[in-house]
Amino acid sequence: MANNPPPFAILLVILLFLYLTPDPPSPGESHRQQHAVAHERGALEALNNSTYGDLHLGKEEDARPLNLTGFRPEHGFRWELLESAQDKARDQARYALGETADGLIEGGSDQYPLLYHNVTGFVEGEWRRTGAYDGPHVNLSAITPHGTYTSEDWKRNVTATSGDVRIHFREKENGEAWNTSVRRISARATIGEETSFGTWWEMILYGIHFVDFGEIILTTTSEKFDGIFGLPHLALSNHTFSLGRDLLNKTLNETIEKQKEGILEDSAPWSSTMEGEDLFSVPHCEYVFYLQQHPVPLNLPGGAAPGNSLVLHHLEEELRFPHRPFLPKTPDMTMSMVAFSPDCGFTIESKGPPDLAPQEGKHLKGPKTEAYAFVARRHVLLFTVIIAAQLLLLLRQMKEASTPSTRSRISFYTIAILALGDGFALLGFALFGMQIESTTMLLLATAYVAFLSVIFFGMGFLKEIWTVQSTERSREERQQAANSPQAPNSPETTQPETLPLPVTARQAINSGATPIIIPSDQDIDAEIAENQDGDANANNQGSPRRGFGSVYLRFYLLLFGLVFLSLHATTWPASVQSVYSSTLTFAYMSFLVPQIYRNVMRNCRKALRWDFVIGQSILRLLPFAYLYAYKGNILLIEPDLNFLAVLCGWVWLQVCALLSQEHLGPRFFVRDTWVPPAYDYHPVLRADEEGASLPSGAKVLAGEEAGMTTTTKAGESRDKSKKIFDCAICMQDLEVPVIASAADADGAGASGLSGGLLARRAYMVTPCRHIFHSVCLEGWMRYRLQCPICREVLPPL
Ligand SMILES: *[C@@H]1O[C@H](CO)[C@@H](O)[C@H](O)[C@H]1NC(C)=O
Ligand SMILES: *[C@@H]1O[C@H](CO)[C@@H](O)[C@H](O)[C@H]1NC(C)=O
Ligand SMILES: *[C@@H]1O[C@H](CO)[C@@H](O)[C@H](O)[C@H]1NC(C)=O
Ligand SMILES: *[C@@H]1O[C@H](CO)[C@@H](O)[C@H](O)[C@H]1NC(C)=O
Ligand SMILES: *[C@@H]1O[C@H](CO)[C@@H](O)[C@H](O)[C@H]1NC(C)=O
Ligand SMILES: *[C@@H]1O[C@H](CO)[C@@H](O)[C@H](O)[C@H]1NC(C)=O
Ligand SMILES: *[C@@H]1O[C@H](CO)[C@@H](O)[C@H](O)[C@H]1NC(C)=O
Ligand SMILES: *[C@@H]1O[C@H](CO)[C@@H](O)[C@H](O)[C@H]1NC(C)=O
Ligand SMILES: *[C@@H]1O[C@H](CO)[C@@H](O)[C@H](O)[C@H]1NC(C)=O
Ligand SMILES: *[C@@H]1O[C@H](CO)[C@@H](O)[C@H](O)[C@H]1NC(C)=O
Repeated sequence: MANNPPPFAILLVILLFLYLTPDPPSPGESHRQQHAVAHERGALEALNNSTYGDLHLGKEEDARPLNLTGFRPEHGFRWELLESAQDKARDQARYALGETADGLIEGGSDQYPLLYHNVTGFVEGEWRRTGAYDGPHVNLSAITPHGTYTSEDWKRNVTATSGDVRIHFREKENGEAWNTSVRRISARATIGEETSFGTWWEMILYGIHFVDFGEIILTTTSEKFDGIFGLPHLALSNHTFSLGRDLLNKTLNETIEKQKEGILEDSAPWSSTMEGEDLFSVPHCEYVFYLQQHPVPLNLPGGAAPGNSLVLHHLEEELRFPHRPFLPKTPDMTMSMVAFSPDCGFTIESKGPPDLAPQEGKHLKGPKTEAYAFVARRHVLLFTVIIAAQLLLLLRQMKEASTPSTRSRISFYTIAILALGDGFALLGFALFGMQIESTTMLLLATAYVAFLSVIFFGMGFLKEIWTVQSTERSREERQQAANSPQAPNSPETTQPETLPLPVTARQAINSGATPIIIPSDQDIDAEIAENQDGDANANNQGSPRRGFGSVYLRFYLLLFGLVFLSLHATTWPASVQSVYSSTLTFAYMSFLVPQIYRNVMRNCRKALRWDFVIGQSILRLLPFAYLYAYKGNILLIEPDLNFLAVLCGWVWLQVCALLSQEHLGPRFFVRDTWVPPAYDYHPVLRADEEGASLPSGAKVLAGEEAGMTTTTKAGESRDKSKKIFDCAICMQDLEVPVIASAADADGAGASGLSGGLLARRAYMVTPCRHIFHSVCLEGWMRYRLQCPICREVLPPL
């Protein structure tokens, strides 16, 4: 029953389906669509009718101004910036391409440099602000008279003087010839500002890529700026203008036709806002980007000879459709950038030579998507190895904790956090893998198998622990219920872990009157629970199982909730994001804390194998070490060694706490009053009054009088501070340090306690006053929580 998918999973699928199914267009929607199409048609016609130079406003009186939103003089955009930006872009082209740059831009040269023709991938680097305008604002009410905006605050306004930028390019195939010289391109740019708050802006840009000489012009488009329709006017020459206009004349018309026919439902197909961002209509600064690709540093004979672009073409083909298992050497793409905002009036440039020394920046660099995916695939494979190692450790731990008594020591929450972490990592990873198109199915499949196995085994183990511990919980509840009415007269206050007398047939057995054969390796708790289940009480049967159903539910709700929250968190401001991710990471890396807590509460010294604790700590830290210490990590996270050090320190502290709990006692660092009293298996033994109150000796000595043993007497006479007992499990002698009498116990106890702490670990005294070697009794108690001599129930260790 519990293994079936819980009903909410089906609900989730239905909800997702409903969410993803597009709504039928409402009448208002189709009206808006028609309006948008009419506007776009007008804009395209204006582009068709225009000639190069129309944008250079106000120079000649007879110039026909462009009839496009944002380009008309009365809209007050700062087109004065255009000229300096274009000059800068030309300089960058000359620096990158050398002598032939001008000829290439004007279309008079066929010395094509060695450039990637398909720049799908990303580049990143640093920018600096080089120009700012502090005149009056753009008159918004003149551009959009209908009050489109609800806010006066402009987004994407760059105020810092430097920061970093990352641009993801995407070039789709539209059936053009491979040697086409101009192509559409779209990009997602992220501009981060170096402010204390860590602001960053994200936008989508559309533009054209002049493949032959590596120039890319991108622009944002919005209701106050017809960027894509005016784009050819931003080109550097009449030649590139005509190339761009011809391309856009064709492709924009295609999109508009699709929109008109209802194939494309987006009323703003070139919108610069990210999906889900336009909840509030706020004005954004518009951007125009010029990017110049630098020649690929491949040492081919002849440099920019016409045939060499063919070589690079074959390299790119091999990258996309590999015939060999190993990737050919693929240098990163390098691009210089200059961008300006025509309405907010600032200019930013990439840092790098020749204006700045190469140490300060090397423009924007980044891999082609195929090279990136290749590296990503390898790293993900390493991650799979880590997952496999984790699984191995988990399996060993599961084998070790095969008895209910050992299982009940393990903290449910520790294992739950680990499983949650695995689920989170792999789910997030699968979503991430879907984003990189070139990620192979193999990759996703590996992730999926790992996901299944971890979730499967992890959940299986959780279920076992839960089942064992739920009987423990119900016992506690019963005990509380039993204790509350008759609390004062309970003699059990000295020994609260003692079982209340069971109401079932076990009662007779526990009285000790009958010899018992313990049929299995289970402890009494579990057997009692089993028996009670077996009693077929209608309200009791299968309750742990049913209980685990709700645990399943909560686990997956939490997992999916976390994943969705984290997905949402990617749109938050950088500082909030980092607080969120640090909190999450810290909560995850605190996975040993519940175990430490459980050890304290149950007075249990050791629950998990050491290889499990150490191995899991290292394996769980490894991905963070990769993300925070390795610069080329696939998530593109900036290295942060301090955070990593804090994280490692925190895990180290937890491991140390567990280590000292094993050797110094689980409660050595908490006060006794904070925790429920627990039975102390390692008491200080006092030999006062002929052992009358000697906890374990009393019985043994009494036994001696009855002629059962004689060892004690001999030991006693030899050394007053030592006594020798018999361990009933291994039949060997057990030498126990004893404090002479109650009178000088205070003095001797104070000095002997610290030294005696470890000595006392060597023996264990049961509540029924039998004494054993610790090793022997612990081994015994792994299987049954019963005194080997008198079959009294023992409190769990
Ligand atoms: C500009 O275009 C709009 C429609 O897009 C049109 O109504 C207006 O008359 C045009 N203005 C000029 C000066 O052509
Ligand atoms: C474009 O030019 C044609 C003639 O070439 C003219 O009829 C039309 O009105 C012009 N459109 C705009 C928007 O200027
Ligand atoms: C744009 O395309 C239309 C037809 O699709 C064509 O008539 C027109 O001449 C083109 N404009 C330019 C400037 O090439
Ligand atoms: C586009 O411009 C050309 C001239 O450049 C003109 O012949 C053609 O009619 C125009 N097309 C449209 C749809 O305005
Ligand atoms: C903005 O434009 C509106 C309408 O075109 C005009 O009434 C208003 O005076 C302008 N405001 C400024 C500050 O120029
Ligand atoms: C560029 O490369 C990407 C990734 O391999 C591919 O999806 C895209 O179709 C390519 N574009 C062109 C125009 O070849
Ligand atoms: C592209 O190559 C084809 C032959 O493969 C050739 O016919 C065409 O002219 C070339 N186009 C350009 C722009 O070089
Ligand atoms: C741009 O080139 C076209 C021909 O392609 C020519 O008719 C036009 O006059 C040129 N414009 C400028 C500003 O040079
Ligand atoms: C747009 O394309 C349609 C057919 O696809 C054609 O009829 C129309 O003239 C084109 N318009 C422009 C402005 O290119
Ligand atoms: C952008 O920020 C600068 C500096 O804070 C400010 O002077 C300018 O008015 C802002 N621009 C807009 C459009 O809000």
